[in-house]
Amino acid sequence: MQFHVKEGQCESMKVDLIAMPYFEMTHRIKGKASLPRALRGIDSKMHGELSKQISSEDFKGEKNTSFLIFTAGLVEARYILLFGMGAAGDAELNSYREFAGNVASVAASIKAKSAAIHLGKENKDIISESKLRVISEGIILGSYDFKKYKTDDTSKVTRIEKVTYIYDKGDAKTDAAIDSGKIVAEAKCFARDLVNSPGSDLTPKVLASYAKRISAKGKLACSVWNMTKLKTEKMGGMIAVTKGSAEPPAFIKIVYKPKSRAKGHIVLVGKGITFDAGGISLKPPRGMEKMKNDMAGGAAVMGAMQAISYLKPNVEVTALIPAAENMPDGKALKPGDVIKIKNGKTVEIISTDAEGRLVLADALSIASKMKPNAIVDLATLTGGAVYCCGELYSLVVGSDQKLIDRLIKSSKHAGEPMWQLPFVEEYKKGYTSGIADLNNSGKSRAQTILGAIFLNEFVDEKIPWAHLDIAASAWTDEPLPTSPKGGTGVMVSTLVDFVMNWSRNL
Ligand code: BES
Ligand code: MN
Ligand code: ZN
Repeated sequence: MQFHVKEGQCESMKVDLIAMPYFEMTHRIKGKASLPRALRGIDSKMHGELSKQISSEDFKGEKNTSFLIFTAGLVEARYILLFGMGAAGDAELNSYREFAGNVASVAASIKAKSAAIHLGKENKDIISESKLRVISEGIILGSYDFKKYKTDDTSKVTRIEKVTYIYDKGDAKTDAAIDSGKIVAEAKCFARDLVNSPGSDLTPKVLASYAKRISAKGKLACSVWNMTKLKTEKMGGMIAVTKGSAEPPAFIKIVYKPKSRAKGHIVLVGKGITFDAGGISLKPPRGMEKMKNDMAGGAAVMGAMQAISYLKPNVEVTALIPAAENMPDGKALKPGDVIKIKNGKTVEIISTDAEGRLVLADALSIASKMKPNAIVDLATLTGGAVYCCGELYSLVVGSDQKLIDRLIKSSKHAGEPMWQLPFVEEYKKGYTSGIADLNNSGKSRAQTILGAIFLNEFVDEKIPWAHLDIAASAWTDEPLPTSPKGGTGVMVSTLVDFVMNWSRNL
């Protein structure tokens, strides 16, 4: 997708679609809907039909409403779209991202290949470059579709190829803003591709090959540990989970180092279960097909690393992705088995379906040994996550409030909602085991908090740590403003913002 910034009038735009954010009240005169000044030229060429329609529909610009009109050859542009933003004062940066996502959907429905977006001077508190950044991000995200497995050409939708911002003269600053939006959106689409890929095609080995590919392209260091290495490293969590699978496991490490002296070191850990059948504690069949998304944490981390390789923050970032399949088999891990995690702690298996915490325990032990300034892990860890705040929210639990506050702030910038759950010390005793140091299932109905409490046992308490449960938000069954059904790529944008702002005092 190509983006251009230029000065100009709407009436001279030769595009399929002109889109414009439309603020409630701003365009109302004496309580009646009125035409934005930028569209007056078009309106007169259309013999006043545009303004007539706006008032007869009484289009108010309420949030998430829209007005679309066909120009019937009277002007250069084929369609005009006004998108309701609500009151000008309320519009957050993210509403521009969602505006752009909606523009992409409308564009697809009218088979538009080119669009011009008119950015008026409303809502001046939002700096203009940021608007260009998030709109570029939103258009790419809203245009995403996973077509790899479609053979029928008619099921392939026409996508926008060219976007023109009617704004001001473009310069280095506007170019940089558009580029960073593009980089983040493409990284998020990459994460979506990984999540949407079937489990039999996206095995741990294939996930590792993608890690190598993005590392080679972005000049990152990448290494992959195989089963032999997992054994010498005594990674009992990974070995236990992968035992029932015919697919070899992969422990993926990707490292980004800034050219100048690094202002700290962050480790990102992402759960990489490429398919979670539950193991011997087999999951029920209904909805099991979605368990190909159990590597969404790993995908988010890989997406973030791709973006980081282009955006070059001044902090060192290490990504760890423990990748394996969780399958039932004659050789599979059994309930009642006792395993030993990398840090030496023993775990009695109650449910083989609580496998994510086992592979993450190994990864967090390794992350802790690196003595970084922060560890953030991401995982589709608990089915219970959806009952906390529903499908739109990622949940954060951790040991360090400053780190959590940074992540929440970044999630706001990113338009990826996040909510903090408490770390309830009292639930720790549910993890006692008669024969081992811990059991792997705990005792409370607060599954998401329990997940974090287990993981905390494998993190060096001196290192700020936060756990993000994305089991609810990594997948959507309903289309969202910037995502179709399927993998959402959630947290790529948050992680990138978090890493880019790390060295700033917030
Ligand atoms: N991958 C699942 C969690 C999950 C469920 C993600 C539904 C997305 C949608 C995880 O491995 C799991 O099975 N968790 C168990 C933990 C329990 C056995 C302690 C769960 O949530 O039921
Ligand atoms: Mn499971
Ligand atoms: Zn799982």
